[in-house]
Amino acid sequence: MNIILLGPPGAGKGTQARMLEEKLGMVQISTGDMLRAAIKNGDPIGLKAKAIIDSGQLVPDHLMVNLIENRIVQPDCAKGFILDGFPRTIPQAEALDDMLTRLNKGLNAVIHLKVNDEALIERVSGRFTCAKCGAGYHDKFKPTKVAGVCDACGSTDFVRRPDDNAETMKTRLKAFQEQTAPILPYYEKKGMLQAIDGMAEINQVQAELLRLVKSA
Ligand code: AP5
Repeated sequence: MNIILLGPPGAGKGTQARMLEEKLGMVQISTGDMLRAAIKNGDPIGLKAKAIIDSGQLVPDHLMVNLIENRIVQPDCAKGFILDGFPRTIPQAEALDDMLTRLNKGLNAVIHLKVNDEALIERVSGRFTCAKCGAGYHDKFKPTKVAGVCDACGSTDFVRRPDDNAETMKTRLKAFQEQTAPILPYYEKKGMLQAIDGMAEINQVQAELLRLVKSA
């Protein structure tokens, strides 16, 4: 089972992909996480991507396509994968089709998490992540059970993303509308697109997502 989770910045793609990974044993492939790891490690792609990500724009297609192609050929992806943050442009969607055909792999569903802009800004403004294990939280919607302590690993170290601010969000939302939203009709024409109300609570979104994935 291979799926794409599509949605604007802060829609809940990462939150839901991590839950699917836990519940169904699929592999989450988050291009945002891969780029942030590359920045942290000082890898060449990270050096090229840092300023672009901090400004809220999209990293060039050829870099992203290479990154994904190298990832989905890894043995763990045979269990099924969830693409979180890719494709984000029509050329990326076309390149994904080509590579899946060449690799004899398929796509089972493309699921769009729909959330309005006001809620997105509130979601990214309150987001924080455990610096040790990467577990994701939100000041209001998903706080840690004990204040200042990660539920998953007990660490007391947390980070906030430099691009999670209202100013950069304007550019990220514009990039979504202009470059990513056109891939919705691309998948609709193929009869693959399904939508979920991403404004619902995290657990409700998860239940609906599980239902769609299991029926795909
Ligand atoms: P990336 O890391 O992919 O960022 P994004 O798409 O902007 O998405 P986010 O990670 O911000 O949000 P999300 O939908 O995962 O939400 P989350 O679950 O965390 O990309 C970053 C940058 O990398 C891009 O701007 C670009 O520069 C570059 N890049 C990456 N991929 C690229 C590509 N393919 N091509 C070109 N460039 C690329 O949830 C957000 C918060 O809300 C959390 O705190 C969470 O707890 C909370 N929350 C989640 N669901 C709910 C809910 N239902 N109700 C209330 N709160 C919720």
